[in-house]
Amino acid sequence: MNLLSAKKLSHSFEYELFSNVSLSLQEKESIAIIGMSGSGKSTLLHLLATLLKPDDGEVELFGKNVSAMSKKELVLVKRNKLGIVFQSHYLFKGFTALENLEVSEILSQKHIDNQLLKNLDIGQCMHQKVTELSGGQQQRISIARVLTKKPSIIFADEPTGNLDNETASEVMKLFFDYCKNNRAGMILVTHDNDLAHMCNRVYKLEDKELKLIK
Ligand SMILES: Nc1ncnc2c1ncn2[C@@H]1O[C@H](COP(=O)(O)OP(=O)(O)OP(=O)(O)O)[C@@H](O)[C@H]1O
Ligand SMILES: [Mg+2]
Repeated sequence: MNLLSAKKLSHSFEYELFSNVSLSLQEKESIAIIGMSGSGKSTLLHLLATLLKPDDGEVELFGKNVSAMSKKELVLVKRNKLGIVFQSHYLFKGFTALENLEVSEILSQKHIDNQLLKNLDIGQCMHQKVTELSGGQQQRISIARVLTKKPSIIFADEPTGNLDNETASEVMKLFFDYCKNNRAGMILVTHDNDLAHMCNRVYKLEDKELKLIK
């Protein structure tokens, strides 16, 4: 099934970041987007995840044009089907790790998966405040928060940026296994070429265009 399809997206802030960007994502498929810092990767991811409206073009999620969805419909799609791992984690700082996951649990009415916490090696820091955790631990909590929702599409912006190589590979394996086992898809933004090439397809955002390189 087609999870996401973007047609001819354009976006500008102070100047034009990109135009005529099209791509689609199927179940069990992963796509990587690479490109220089400032080329617009996070912006593109935010357009695909419907956090931003494109200047031009369309995004379809699960076969339906996002601009044709009511506000309520879109809120439900975002809450239940989209999982976004941000470049900065946006955890609730005053809360413990566990409380952060509980928010996700309540909103999505799914249960925290203890095996997931084990796989991410964060079981032991669940009762610590977010501010007491290392950058890599916060990153793994934010990944656990997203996977707790059991999303159909994962949007991940440099999800392993704060992790050592070994932990990064384990986390990526978790994402890939998750997609396979849950008929989900993933769009990954990364600076890491090796990581990118673990995905089914690789695009590069360059000269205001999205170019398919694998
Ligand atoms: N909300 C905004 N308002 C104005 N300009 C913005 C906004 N968000 C991003 N930009 C600008 O758009 C350009 C692309 O930013 P973006 O965050 O998409 O790049 P990126 O490719 O993700 O970079 P990085 O690899 O450093 O994360 C930058 O010049 C940035 O300053
Ligand atoms: Mg970015």
